[in-house]
Formats: sequence, C-alpha cells, structure tokens
Amino acid sequence: MANLKKDIASSIAVGLVAIPLCLGIAHASGTPLISGLIAGIVGGLVIGSFSKSHLAVSGPAAGLTTIVLAAIATLKDFDVFLTAVVLAGVLQVLFGKMRVGGLSRLFPSPVIKGMLSAIGLILIMKQFPHLVGFDKESFGVEEFFDTDKDIESGGSQGLNTFRMIGLAFASLEPGAFTIGLSSLALLYFWDWKMAKRFPIIPGSLVAVGVAVLGNQVLGPGLRVAGKHLVKIPELRPDNFVHPNWGALSNPQVYLVALTIALVASVESLLSVEALDRLDPQNRRTPPNAELLAQGIGNIISGLLGGLPITAVIVRGSVNLAAGATSKRSAILHGAWILVACLGLRNGINAIPLAALAAVLVHVGIKMAHPKNLKEMSKRGWSQLVPYVVTVLAILFTDLLIGICIGTVVSAFFILRNLHVAKGFTVHKSGLITQIKLHQEVTFFHKVRLSSVLEAVPAGSVLEIDGSEARTIDHDVLDLLELFKAQAAHKNIEIIFGGISLMESFSEKQMAAMQAEYETLLSNNQAWVEECQKEDPQYFERMAIGQKPTFLFIGCSDSRVPAEVITRTEAGKLFVHRNIANVVSLHDMNLMSVLQYSVEHLVVPHIIVCGHYGCGGVRAALSSQSFGLIDNWVHPIKKVVDEHQAELALIADADQKERRIIELHVLAQVRQILKTPVVQKSIQKLGIPRVHGWVYDLATGKIKDLKADVNLQDDLHPVFHYEYDFQKKAPVAQN
Ligand code: CO
Repeated sequence: MANLKKDIASSIAVGLVAIPLCLGIAHASGTPLISGLIAGIVGGLVIGSFSKSHLAVSGPAAGLTTIVLAAIATLKDFDVFLTAVVLAGVLQVLFGKMRVGGLSRLFPSPVIKGMLSAIGLILIMKQFPHLVGFDKESFGVEEFFDTDKDIESGGSQGLNTFRMIGLAFASLEPGAFTIGLSSLALLYFWDWKMAKRFPIIPGSLVAVGVAVLGNQVLGPGLRVAGKHLVKIPELRPDNFVHPNWGALSNPQVYLVALTIALVASVESLLSVEALDRLDPQNRRTPPNAELLAQGIGNIISGLLGGLPITAVIVRGSVNLAAGATSKRSAILHGAWILVACLGLRNGINAIPLAALAAVLVHVGIKMAHPKNLKEMSKRGWSQLVPYVVTVLAILFTDLLIGICIGTVVSAFFILRNLHVAKGFTVHKSGLITQIKLHQEVTFFHKVRLSSVLEAVPAGSVLEIDGSEARTIDHDVLDLLELFKAQAAHKNIEIIFGGISLMESFSEKQMAAMQAEYETLLSNNQAWVEECQKEDPQYFERMAIGQKPTFLFIGCSDSRVPAEVITRTEAGKLFVHRNIANVVSLHDMNLMSVLQYSVEHLVVPHIIVCGHYGCGGVRAALSSQSFGLIDNWVHPIKKVVDEHQAELALIADADQKERRIIELHVLAQVRQILKTPVVQKSIQKLGIPRVHGWVYDLATGKIKDLKADVNLQDDLHPVFHYEYDFQKKAPVAQN
C-alpha cells in the first residue's frame, strides 16, 4: 500500500516534468507540439504496460530530434513520417522476436556510466538558462550545437550549450530566477530534513507546488508569465494527424523507418541498462521484451500522430529520485499527461518552467556526481579514458554520436587488455616443458608463444594444455600445427591436451603411440620365452606363492624401478610406490600393504627409498599451489618446518634440497615405526628392521641413511602402543 502511494506520487512528479519535455522535444523535432504529448501518453500507458522494466520511463526522446528533423526534411510531410514511425515499431517488434536485444549486454560499462554522467551534466548546463528565466532554447534539448528548431523563437545563429549559459547570465529574469533558485534550495532542504518524515511525498512535487503558489504571491513586477510557463496546446480532433499509407510505396520511408528502429532500439536498451544499474533493488530488464514493448509503443504512437518513442534516462532518473518502486509509476505518468491535456490545462499552464528546470538540475547534479569520476579513475586507464571520452563526446555532440565514439575508444582498450593479458604460462621441469593456455589466447600472444616453442630443447617432451582455453585464435592454432610438423625433426614429443582442433594427433603420432604400446606385449612374450629357456619351471614356481624378503616403499617416479636398481628377481620385493614416498597413516593403500607384509608375509626388512631430484619434494618446496597434490606433499613441508635450524646452515640450494630429501625419508621411517602393526611385530619377533635409502638418479647409487631409531628412547611415550620396548633392545637399525 505504501508502495502504491509512492508510485502514485512519483508518477505525478514524472508527469509534470514530462509535459514540458514532450513539448520541447516536439518543438526541437520540428513537429506539431501535440505529437510530443501523444508520444508521452503512449510511452507511459502502452510501453509502461508492456515493458518489464521497473523504473524506465518512455516517451519522445531528445536523442532522436536530429534524426526526426532530417527525416522530415527528406520525407517532406509529417503524415508520411508517421508511416515510417509505424514501420519502425514493426521492425522493433521483429528485433525483439529475433532476440537481438541481448546484444545490449555488449555495451561497455564505462560507456554506460559515461552516458549517465554526461546526461547529468547536460541537465545542469541546459536547464540552467531555464532556471533563471532564459527560455530561448526548447525545454529538454540535449545536443551541443543548436539547430533552428531547438530555439523557441528566432534562429540558432551558432548557438551552443556554452553560449546559451553566457546569454542566460546576461538576461536574468528576476521572477524566474527567484522561483528557480528557491525551488532548487527547497529540493535540497526536502532531501535533507523532510524526506525521512514524509517518505511518500517526492521533493519535486513539493517544489513545483510551492513554485505555482509562490508565483501567484509574487508581485506583478516579478510574477513569471507567458513563455516562462508551461503551455499545453489545446487538443482538438482536427489537429490529429494520421499516417499516410500511400507512402508505403516510397522507398525513403523504409530507410527512415530502419534508421529510427535502430537508433530508438539502441537508445532504449542503453537507457534501461543504465536505469537497471541505478535500481536500488538491482532488478534486471529483459532486453528482448523491452524491444517488443518499444515496438508496440511506436506502432501506436505513429498511428495516433505521435513522435517516435524510446526509453529515456532523464525521466527515468526523475522517476527514481521521486521514489518510484514499480512500473505502475511509469504507466500512471502517461495517464497524468492525458488528464492534463484533457482537463487540467489551466492548472498545468500555471507551472513556471524555472521550477521544472530546478527539478531537472537537482537530478542532474545527482547523476553527474564527481564520485563517478573518482570510482572510474580507481579502475585504471582502460576504464577511465573511455568514460571521460564518452562524457565529453556526448556533451559536445549528441547522445548517439557520443555513445559511438565512447564505444570505439572502449573497444580499443578492450583489445589492448587482451594483448597485455598473458595468454599462457610456461612451466619447465627437466625434460618436460608444459605450456598451459589461458582462457583467451589471441593473435597478440602468437609472437611470444612462438619464441617459447623455439626454445624447447630437442629430445624433450612438450605438453600443451588447452583444457582451460575457451578461445584460441586461428593464427595460434596454425602456429601449433606448424610446430607439430617441425617437432618430429627435433625429436620433440608433443602432447596436446584439451585443444579440440589439436586432439586429432597426426596419424604418424598415433601409429607411433600404438607401436610403443604393442612393444610392451611383445616384450612380455620374449621375456616369457627367455625365462622358460633358462628355467622351464620358473612360472610354475612363481604360481605357488610369494615369500618376499623386503617391503619396498618408493617414489612413483619412472626412473626408480625397485627391482631394476637393486637387481632383484621377481618374488623378492613387496612394493608400494606413491608420489614422493610418503608414509601417511591416513593412506588406506599403504597401511594395508604394511599390515599385509608385516602380519602375513612377515618381511624381515622394510625400506623407504627416496631419490634425489624428486618432483614431489620439489612441489613441496615451492610456494606454488598444485591443487590436491598440496595435501599429499604436506608432510614434506612439515619436515622442512621442523628442521629449519639445520637447513639454514646449508647455503647451496642443491645441497639443501638433497638434505631435505634425506630428512624426509628418515621422517617416513619414524612414521612406520609409529604404527601398532610394526611395533607388535617387533615386540614379538624382533622384525621388521626399517631402513631409509636415497637413490641418486645421476649416479645410480643408493645411499643407506643408516636410520637408527630406538623405539624406547626416540619415540614419545604416546607412540608406545601397549608395548614395553625396554626388554627387547635393538629394533630398528641395520
Ligand atoms: Co620422486
């Protein structure tokens, strides 16, 4: 209920402001004044009903005056022009049905913000003369250079926004000046003191009401009259014009219709987008529904003899400032214009333009608030420059040209950012070079990518991961394709991941991969034959069962094969390998292996074998995050943390890494000894013995770390699971 009251009050405020705007825009468009009012009424009642926007107000637009003027000059007659307006509406309905409205989401943000600020500044500068009673220019004109039609009487003679302000200073009208400035002061006072107490009543309504009464009180010398007041023309059936359907055979009509449809659509979508951003409730207007609504509005406006319509920011902003909560306000504002034309002409015609100018200046100051500039400058040049350019371009040309210039500048910065953004990251580890492509890989990244590819050493592996790339420029794909061909000569193996165009490995590569795979099976065949030749019962013996002597816990690294480096026959090693030979008590896999080998296989030895140059340890030592692996290598980070003092003494980074690998192995040895399974077996049998090794990839040699852990003395009592180790002495050394 409170919302309904608010909407009614705000609709009156918007309606009052809309009337002189409709009239002024009709004048500036060079069309009958009533055409502006018709467009205002249709914009409210019809478009307001069909639109899904909550705050936007539609009506005749200042941004279209230039186009309407030019169109009428081309088409000669107003009724022919109306035919084009109807057709423009039909086109907009088609645009909506074709769902092209979504393109409006492409308007760059700084351009939309620039547009709001520019319209704010335009309101301040263009309304200032009206505020002080210099009503030479039609009310609501927005373009910088005045045309003859923008001027109420007389020619434009090189007039523009600035000259108009200068002239206004030279001819201050004391009455209007008084009303204008006191209305403005009242608006600020209302915001400051009264708005909270009377939240339903918009300050603009109070200001206009006080201005009308005040003007009556002013002495005859000061009282404003004539051209300083609103002047609604009389509505008579005979001054309604209707479209001339004969003009449908005139090809010019279609061109004008297309122009109006395009420009009005763009302006409407921009306006609703901008108002959506101002909406305190953050509601979003579906753009295609808006095009449909605008199209229906223009068809009806054209049929009734009205101007083309768009959603307009100024009236929308007044609507918002007056406290509108829903689209009821926009619809009702159309009804008020109609009522004003039919029965309230005398009342409306008593409103001083200066008071309405005050309402618009008040809104303009809000829209052009310097905080916008501050906010944009915080976002950096790529936002600030398009914003400022948009503001200046709109100020010194008109809305449409300004938006175009702003969009071009913004597009330039968007392209530049794409260029600056990294298209990929390179990660090298030994013989493997990994190139991870980012979301957007553009033409601009081609040169750098090319030099990275050139630097990949012969005989190594190149992995290109495109799994996160959304778009890859065709030039970049060509480059990769080309490199693939060269790579074969340099004996570089390339693995492409996640790049759709690249996933079709070359047939040669596929064949090589298949051959490599089949080698495994043929090797097996050969091995079976060799074994049988040496020992015909070999596999029969193997099949009976295993009795391994060692549990070998090593790294998954392909260069540390347990049997190969210890030259051990099958059946000797019970093996568990994982990344960086971590003994985690949460690892069901390892814990099962441990229990089985201790309780069932009764292995005499457990060996934890790390290796220098371990990738898992390197991952743990870097501060880079690798995802899940971070959790896995966490114990290694802990080792580094616990041995800071010792490690600080080692200056050489390589030596430090080697020492960390040793400390890590020793820590895993302790982990094994901390398990009840192993302690129980030691208590009972005196085995297993647990050893720590490090294998050196560069020499092939194994270093025995001589792990010497005394369960009784070296492990904290909390790790003595029900066993008394004092009785059985040496347990865990070699
Ligand atoms: Co490793």
